Amino acid sequence: MAELLNVQGLSAGYGEAVVLHEVSLSIDPGQTLALLGRNGTGKTTLINTLAGATQQHAGSILLGGQVLHKLPSHERAAAGIGWVPQERNIFKSLTVHENLTAVARPQRAGRASSPWTPARVYELFPRLAERKSNLGTQLSGGEQQMLALGRALVLNPTLLLLDEPCEGLAPIIVQELLRAIRRITREEGLSAIIVEQHPQAILAISDTAAVLDHGTVVYAGSARSLQEQPELLDKLLGVAR
Ligand SMILES: Nc1ncnc2c1ncn2[C@@H]1O[C@H](COP(=O)(O)OP(=O)(O)OP(=O)(O)O)[C@@H](O)[C@H]1O
Ligand SMILES: [Mg+2]
Repeated sequence: MAELLNVQGLSAGYGEAVVLHEVSLSIDPGQTLALLGRNGTGKTTLINTLAGATQQHAGSILLGGQVLHKLPSHERAAAGIGWVPQERNIFKSLTVHENLTAVARPQRAGRASSPWTPARVYELFPRLAERKSNLGTQLSGGEQQMLALGRALVLNPTLLLLDEPCEGLAPIIVQELLRAIRRITREEGLSAIIVEQHPQAILAISDTAAVLDHGTVVYAGSARSLQEQPELLDKLLGVAR
C-alpha cells in the first residue's frame, strides 16, 4: 500500500535554532499515529513543520506523493493538511457557525467517507449546535477545542494534525473529545497524527506511535506493542513511577 505521509530526514526549528534533527516517519492511509514525548522535546515543532509554520533546514515531506515541503502553509491546507494547533486558533470575533462556514470546502475527489459539513460537525458535537450563534469568546475551553477540530474537518483534509487536543480540559470533556476523535479516525478512516503527553488513551486509539526526545525519534513502531511495554514507555517518556 502506498504511504499517505512520508517524512524523511526532517530538520527544522526557529530561525537559527534547530529543534528537530533528521526526523523520519510515515503513515499509511487510514492510520493514526500517536506522537509522544516529554515537554519541550519537539512535538509541536514537528506538527508545525508539517503544517509549514517553522524554518525547515533539510528533509522532505510527501503527502499522497505530493511534495509539501516547498509549499507555504496555506497551500498545504489546500493539499490536504488539516492542522489544529496547540493554541486552538478559532476566529473569536465570529460565531460558531461563522467559524465553520468561513472555511468549509468541498471534499476532494476519491475519498470514501461522506464529506464533513457544518451539519456533520454539529452532529459530532451537539454542544456546538447549541452554541451555534455564540461568539468564539463565549465558548469554554472544551467548546473551543471542538470548534477548532470542526474547522479542520470541514476543510475535508486527508491528514489531521492534532496538537494536544485534550490539554487542560476537564475529564468529562476529554472523554467526549476522545470519543469524537475515535469516531473520525477509527470509524471514518481519516488519517491523523495526535500529540499527547499522557499516552494511554491515545495509544488505545492509534495504530502506530513515535516518541520524540531532544528532537529525534527514539521509538517508531506499533502503538499496541508500546502500550504493552509500560516499562519501555516510562523510560522513553522519562516517567518515574
Ligand atoms: N517559537 C519558538 N522560538 C524558539 N524556540 C522555540 C519556539 N517554540 C518552541 N521552541 C523551542 O523548541 C523546543 C521544542 O519545543 P516544542 O514546543 O516543539 O516542544 P513540545 O514537545 O511540543 O512541548 P510541550 O509538550 O510543552 O508542548 C523547545 O526547546 C522550545 O523551547
Ligand atoms: Mg507542544
